[in-house]
Amino acid sequence: MLTAEENHRLTRVGADTPMGRVLRRYWLPALSSAELEAGGAPKAVRLLGEDLVAFRGADGHVGVMEAACPHRGASLVIARNEDCALQCLYHGWKIAPDGRILDMPAEPENSRYAERIRQIAYRVHEAGSLVWVYMGPPEYEPEFPAWDWTDKPAEQILVLKAIADCNWVQCLEGAIDSAHQTYLHDSRSRNERDLAYAQWADEKGLDPTDGFDGTGQIVRPWADGRPRLEVEDTSYGFWYAAIRKPLFKEDQFKNVRVTHFVAPFHAAIPSPAGWSQLIMHVPVDDVTTAFYHVRCNLDAPYDDETRAVHTEAAGLVPGRDIDGEFRRVANKSNLWLQDREEMKRDRFSGIRGTVTEDHAVQESMGPIYDRTREHLATSDLAVIRMRRLLLQSLRRFESGEAPIGLTAPVPYASIRGEERTVPVDQPWQTVGRVLDETAGPA
Ligand code: FES
Ligand SMILES: [Fe+2]
Repeated sequence: MLTAEENHRLTRVGADTPMGRVLRRYWLPALSSAELEAGGAPKAVRLLGEDLVAFRGADGHVGVMEAACPHRGASLVIARNEDCALQCLYHGWKIAPDGRILDMPAEPENSRYAERIRQIAYRVHEAGSLVWVYMGPPEYEPEFPAWDWTDKPAEQILVLKAIADCNWVQCLEGAIDSAHQTYLHDSRSRNERDLAYAQWADEKGLDPTDGFDGTGQIVRPWADGRPRLEVEDTSYGFWYAAIRKPLFKEDQFKNVRVTHFVAPFHAAIPSPAGWSQLIMHVPVDDVTTAFYHVRCNLDAPYDDETRAVHTEAAGLVPGRDIDGEFRRVANKSNLWLQDREEMKRDRFSGIRGTVTEDHAVQESMGPIYDRTREHLATSDLAVIRMRRLLLQSLRRFESGEAPIGLTAPVPYASIRGEERTVPVDQPWQTVGRVLDETAGPA
């Protein structure tokens, strides 16, 4: 449980709030690279409560700036994309990606007014099929977070994106809450498939967590609904294990599922060997969150069939499940298209797609969940730690220190979640270890 004040401090993201100022110290994904065509239409982007516009000039470079024209506020989302700049429709002011005003065609020819005005434009870095921005003070710009997938070409990456209609913290809580797997995401067909696969792996003496099952999930060779959670702090957040009894030989083995929480909103969830996955919950504003699930095949192109399986499993098929603005067709107004017949037949939730299942429960908590009313339990250990860390980070920041994860270099490229079936007496810390020992567990 949090006090009303703590809940307020944790959740609000505006530029005038403590958390809003902290979040502006990190690089944030603003949109997918694929959303911007060179010389094409600009795109409205809302981030941390600010209305921005993103565009790609004909030369391929991306600009992200305040959406309101600095002249008299017409939206630059409807501007012309000309000569690698945005030209406002109203009086033709032309604005470069870095915010310089290149032309004020309605002003006298010898006017130098343009030199005195600058549009608010943010630092942009394009990597890993995403456009990232830094919205904080220039003197505090951190190193770019170079994950193991950010230098990979688009052919190896799948970006799943959807907008959730609720506050970012309740979405983030879902990403580091291993216990809900066996309930929210349960289905009869999946259990049958997992069992068959685990049986096969057991006979062959293999670890069944080395592959994806037919639904695009890592294989789940357990049916233990009461995971034991263990958490350890790291320099960038924490890592935690959900430890469960496996389907076979539970006296000899245990299943260990390790997730890393990397401040402020990243969850590196388990991936089979050769893959990397990261979930990010980026605050659009106080009551809206952009969900990104990046999946990368680290060694080879991501073939179309696997892309289709993973997109289907998430329930994020463009045109069917989400519109062009990444809004889900299944939403609160239609009870997330829950199918009560399906609940009897197969899926525990009756809701199609894992992301829609997650968003359904998170949105159902209300736009900003009132954490003074909750009753936390043993299975909420990681959720409790995350809130404590972020609130600590806020206090540190207010006393003049850097927020968590910005005091020392973070070994982003070495952080990867992992799940393994290991002998019962093997420490869980042998799974999902950060390879860079210098920045490993604190
Ligand atoms: S409002 Fe944009 S040029 Fe006048
Ligand atoms: Fe989930």
